[in-house]
Amino acid sequence: MDFRRDCPAGAARIPAFRSAFTLRDFHYRRLRNAQHLYPVMGFSRRRGSVSFGVDGSVRAVGRRAFIDDDVLGDEFDRVFHPSWQLLGFADEVREPGDYIVRTLGRDEVVVMRGEDGVVRALHNSCTHRGTRLCRASLGNAAHLRCSYHGWTFANDGRLVGVPALRSAYPADFDPGGHGLPTARVEDRRGFLFATWDAGAPGLDEYLGEIGWYLDAFLDCGAGRWEVWGPPQRVRTRGNWKIPTDNFAGDGYHMRTTHQIALQQGIYGDTLADGTRGRSGTDLVAVNIATPGGHSVRAGYVVESGRSIDDRDLAAPEFPGYPPERWADLAAAQTPEQVRFTSHCEVAHGVLFPNTVFLSVAHDRAVGEDTDPLTRFLVVRTHVPISARETECLYWTLVPTAMDPEWRQRSYRFQARTQSAGGILFEMDDFENFARIDAALARSAPDRGAPVDLSLGADRGVVAKDFPGPARAEVGTLSEHNQRAFYRRWAELMGELP
Ligand code: FES
Ligand SMILES: [Fe+2]
Repeated sequence: MDFRRDCPAGAARIPAFRSAFTLRDFHYRRLRNAQHLYPVMGFSRRRGSVSFGVDGSVRAVGRRAFIDDDVLGDEFDRVFHPSWQLLGFADEVREPGDYIVRTLGRDEVVVMRGEDGVVRALHNSCTHRGTRLCRASLGNAAHLRCSYHGWTFANDGRLVGVPALRSAYPADFDPGGHGLPTARVEDRRGFLFATWDAGAPGLDEYLGEIGWYLDAFLDCGAGRWEVWGPPQRVRTRGNWKIPTDNFAGDGYHMRTTHQIALQQGIYGDTLADGTRGRSGTDLVAVNIATPGGHSVRAGYVVESGRSIDDRDLAAPEFPGYPPERWADLAAAQTPEQVRFTSHCEVAHGVLFPNTVFLSVAHDRAVGEDTDPLTRFLVVRTHVPISARETECLYWTLVPTAMDPEWRQRSYRFQARTQSAGGILFEMDDFENFARIDAALARSAPDRGAPVDLSLGADRGVVAKDFPGPARAEVGTLSEHNQRAFYRRWAELMGELP
């Protein structure tokens, strides 16, 4: 029979590329995927690898999704391509010609401010033979000149210099048709997001209800948030989804993975002798997730035995900010934002697919017993290098109008706890992520249970009168947010039942 005539486009290529598959496999998959024609990969080897509860939430994901480069190839096409991804911050490219080199899905891009003041994401590949144009990670330049034959591009991506253009190229050669491909870029409060998908919704629509929560964190009455220096970068073992789902809402690992941090007193009254403050309080968490896969997990300090509804909001408290700034902070927010942020000690979450954030107030960094409770905000991206390796970029943000000493301390707390070189948290987490990767990768394909996501399922209580949008479930131990992340992932990967 003639595959090319009888099979969907794309699928016909499979036998040639995947010799390990038999003809029977091919026909079986063709039938199974008849309703899900894959324009790029032709078929999916994963369908059926995600389990769902009766409520439609994801309960488990097959191990292969975390180690297989074919899956990552599909993710680039299906998950990353249509999504908005954080490339960096406007503060990193303040002047015309400033650039930073970042990753957008599969591609490297030069995020560059043109002479016209517009920030663009330029494909970092010469349009002649494809040479990598920019080899530095940041800098300032009026032009990008290719190292091979010298084609030169202006900092807005136009091809403006071609050696021997008049003497050696045909008369109809058009430099205007050889500019660098540019992705769509949107600046939201200094956050630079980009997508290659010309048909994607705008960034605000893409973020949907989670935008309300971002604004609540950023409206602090102390100026705008500025990035503290270039991002820290580190490569770590493990699939990009592993640290990402951790940030979506994993409160469950705190008492095992981070026991040492708790014993150090980093969250107040946790020393065995009880000598540090804030005794008699509990942390109650609310998990907020949207159909777009975005999420926030917010933890509130409440008196033991009380609920978040009982908090006294007549005098809002903002842990980690100096008490003398609380009135300014409350005045800068809407009443609903105050109800959300007041008494919130820790909040973290995911902007689907691979941007995460953490806003947290620590009592001290290790060895700084006298430091007051101080908040920091860190934003990260988890960039896939391969199915089993991830590059993490970390930006610390600080409000411009806080006093210099507080700004320094905020940055220091982040650097010492939640950064690549942090004494606590990060090393503990990375060790677990590497152990996951090692065990998944050395198992036989069908060995081992799928990755379980059922914690707190069917037990979530919708937060009463919660001030923010989207579904909010109370549950200090819950994988509600992770289930939302993987449901959106499964939807884009063609895995929904
Ligand atoms: S490859 Fe860039 S100028 Fe030839
Ligand atoms: Fe952690």
